[in-house]
Amino acid sequence: MASNSLDRFAIFGGKPAFETPLHVGCPNIGDRKRLYERLDSILDRRVLTNNGPMVREFEERVADIVGVRHCIAMCNGTVALEIVTRALGMKEEAIVPSLTFVATAHALQWQQISPVFCDVKPGSHHMDPAQIHNLLTPRTSGILPVNLWGRPCDIDAILAVAEQNRLPVVFDSAHMFACSYKGSMIGSFGDAEVFSFHATKFMNTFEGGAVVTNDDELAATVRLMQNFGFSGRDLVTHVGINGKMTEVAAAMGLTSLDAMDRFVERNRENYHAYRLKLRPVPGVEIVEYDERERCNFQYIVIDVDENITGIGCDELMAVLAAENVDARRYFSPGCHRMEPYSSYFPNAGLLLRNTEDSLSRVLTLPTGTAVEARDAEKIGELIQRIVADGAAIHARLQSRPGRESRPQTGRLARCVNYR
Ligand SMILES: Cc1ncc(COP(=O)(O)O)c(C=O)c1O
Repeated sequence: MASNSLDRFAIFGGKPAFETPLHVGCPNIGDRKRLYERLDSILDRRVLTNNGPMVREFEERVADIVGVRHCIAMCNGTVALEIVTRALGMKEEAIVPSLTFVATAHALQWQQISPVFCDVKPGSHHMDPAQIHNLLTPRTSGILPVNLWGRPCDIDAILAVAEQNRLPVVFDSAHMFACSYKGSMIGSFGDAEVFSFHATKFMNTFEGGAVVTNDDELAATVRLMQNFGFSGRDLVTHVGINGKMTEVAAAMGLTSLDAMDRFVERNRENYHAYRLKLRPVPGVEIVEYDERERCNFQYIVIDVDENITGIGCDELMAVLAAENVDARRYFSPGCHRMEPYSSYFPNAGLLLRNTEDSLSRVLTLPTGTAVEARDAEKIGELIQRIVADGAAIHARLQSRPGRESRPQTGRLARCVNYR
């Protein structure tokens, strides 16, 4: 391939494939009119927070969808993780994957609980239950597995290890609302599970989260802790914090729930469009959903084998960014390589080989209701063309003076909700 034929790619001066940027996690918005009605009713009532009727309705609907006895809506997923792990008495050390959003580890570290990072099973992107035994110490107080990207981890195997060792389990199911595992809804496993309803999640409350559980006593403790420990008007019986969801957030949540089937359907269509176009691409594998289960299809994740494509994830991301496709390297480089963990555990990478290998190959592509199936097809075709010229693109990028493999995000950087 003559190098000047590469000029059609925007990174080398061609016209971008998309006029405006497409992002991972662009918020899904439900029926505005219904949202405004709900907002009006909040203002009319003058009940803005403190477990008002919108929050209670939201909690009931979430608990009903998940099929659990208790849902405690929270201001966000991170605080939900902090409160529930504390309510379960976790302290000193808890076992957690490093291949996750940093909030999973921070929720522990914030309480002086050391996250002990567990490697992932090769090819799964999920905590390897067989590794947990090697990480147990007398200080281990719990396990926090992550159901990543809308796909369940090996829940049964993790629960078996936890039971053998009498350890509580909280699943970080931030990505997993409206998904199932072996026919049962996610949210009903372990001692408790936590959802995130952050703006980038397929079902959002602007910011928000929830603890869901079937444990009555745990639910009561979480509720106390979420509201400063108040168990009566002027009666504080527990140490607590402010983790409450506002009425406005719940109004958005109810409006998102009304539209949830439509959001899932769009994600599903996009996933199938990507899959069709990416399947034939050598060295690129889309991480598949098990459609025998309920799925929310909210992340399109590809695994890029640079030895076959000739172009690695950073360069592919840079080429896509120039085309106005804002792909992301979730959750690179792994929590263990972020501070303070990389200072605390400088050699953790030696024990996290599969995590590091997976993260070096993973790229997340735009989906959600801001992306049409034909956009997904177009991005898939673009990746086909990039990979067909992968080695030549790589060589040309390497030969550029002051080369920069991270994307030039002049326009992309203006979008503020993206992580
Ligand atoms: C895996 C994971 N855990 C926890 C969180 C934290 O949730 P929140 O942003 O609602 O605090 C996120 C959020 O993005 C996440 O992706």
